[in-house]
Amino acid sequence: MRKQLIRILLVFFTALALLIAFTLNKVVQKEEQVFFVYLILLVIIIVSMLRLFMWARDKVMIPMDKLKESIKAVSEGDFNHILDLDGADEISEVCQDFEKLRIHLKENIEDREKVDRENRELIGNISHDLKTPITAIKGYAEGILDGVVTTPEEQKKYLMTIHNKAVDMTNLIDELTYYTKIDTNRIPYRFDKISPVEFFYDCVEDVGLDLESRGFIFTHSVDVDSDVVVIADVVQLAKVVNNIINNAVKYMDKTPGKIDISLRDDRDFVKFEITDNGMGIEAADIPKIFDRFFRADASRNTGTGGSGIGLSIVKKIIEDHGGKIWANSKVGVGSTFSFILRKYQEAELSDE
Ligand SMILES: Nc1ncnc2c1ncn2[C@@H]1O[C@H](COP(=O)(O)OP(=O)(O)OP(=O)(O)O)[C@@H](O)[C@H]1O
Ligand SMILES: [Mg+2]
Repeated sequence: MRKQLIRILLVFFTALALLIAFTLNKVVQKEEQVFFVYLILLVIIIVSMLRLFMWARDKVMIPMDKLKESIKAVSEGDFNHILDLDGADEISEVCQDFEKLRIHLKENIEDREKVDRENRELIGNISHDLKTPITAIKGYAEGILDGVVTTPEEQKKYLMTIHNKAVDMTNLIDELTYYTKIDTNRIPYRFDKISPVEFFYDCVEDVGLDLESRGFIFTHSVDVDSDVVVIADVVQLAKVVNNIINNAVKYMDKTPGKIDISLRDDRDFVKFEITDNGMGIEAADIPKIFDRFFRADASRNTGTGGSGIGLSIVKKIIEDHGGKIWANSKVGVGSTFSFILRKYQEAELSDE
C-alpha cells in the first residue's frame, strides 16, 4: 500500500514538473531566471509531496493498517482487540462501523457463554436437588425391605418420610417446570387494569389468618388512593407476594416472628413492601438472592429445604410487569423486600 502510494505520487509530481517546465520554457526569456524558477518549483513540489504523503499516511495508511490488524484479530477469535479511531472521513467511519460490529459480536459471544454456563449450573443443581430426596427414599425403602424396621409404627414413620421426600421432589419438578416456562416466555400473562389496593387487601385476607394461626404477628398498612390503577396479572402477582411471604416464614428465627406488609404511593409508582424480623441476609449475598438457584449458606444450614428458584421467578414476574424489585436486609435483624409497579394513567384527550 505504502509503496504503491509513493509510486503514484512520484509519477504524478514528475508529470506535473514536466508540464510546468515545458510551460516555463515558453514564458520565461532569461537563462538565470529559468534556473531560479526551477529551484522554487522543485522546493514547492517536494514540500507538496511530503505534505500529501503525510496526509495519506495519517488518513489512509495508518487507519487501513489498524483495520487490517483488527480484522485479523477478530477472524482469529480475539474479540478484545479495540480499533480506536476518531474522525469523520469515510475510512474512519468504516473503522468505527467495524468496531461496533466487533463489540456486538463480543457481546453475543459473552451472552452465549453465560447461557451455557447457566445451563451447566442448572443441570448440576437439578441433579443435586433430586439426588438428595432420592437417596433418602432409597435408604428408607431398604430399611423396610431388609426388615430393619419391624413394628407397624416404625414402618409407618418410614413410609411417611418416603412420601414427604416424594412430595419434595414433585414440588421441585413443578417449580422447575414453571421456571423453565416463565423463563422462555411460555407462561401467557393475562394483564388487566387492577386496583392495587383491592389486590393488597385480597393478599392480606389470603395470608393473614394463616400467619396468625402459626403464631406470627402480622401487620399491614395502605397509603394509596383506592382509584389508583396498575396493569397486572393478579395470579402472577399473587405468586410474587406468596413467594416473598413464604421466605419470610421459612427464614424466621425469632419468636414471635413479625411480618408486615404495606402499600405506599411512590409518585408515578405504587410500592409493595414486605418486612420480616427473621435471620436476615449477609450484605454480600443480597445482590445474588434473585439469581436462579442461589441459596445463602445460612439458609442451607437451616434444613428448611428449597432450591433457590423462588426469588428468580419473583424477579422475572415483576420485570415482565415493567416493575423493579430489590431487598434490604441486616443479619440478625430482618429483611425488607420492595417492589414497584407503574401507575396506569389514561391518555388524556386534548381539546385541539
Ligand atoms: N426473608 C428472608 N430472610 C432471609 N433470607 C432470605 C429471605 N428471603 C430469601 N432469602 C435468602 O435468599 C435465598 C433465595 O431465596 P429463594 O426464595 O430464591 O430460594 P429458596 O427459598 O431457598 O428456595 P425456593 O423458594 O425455590 O423453595 C434463600 O435461600 C435465602 O438464603
Ligand atoms: Mg423461597
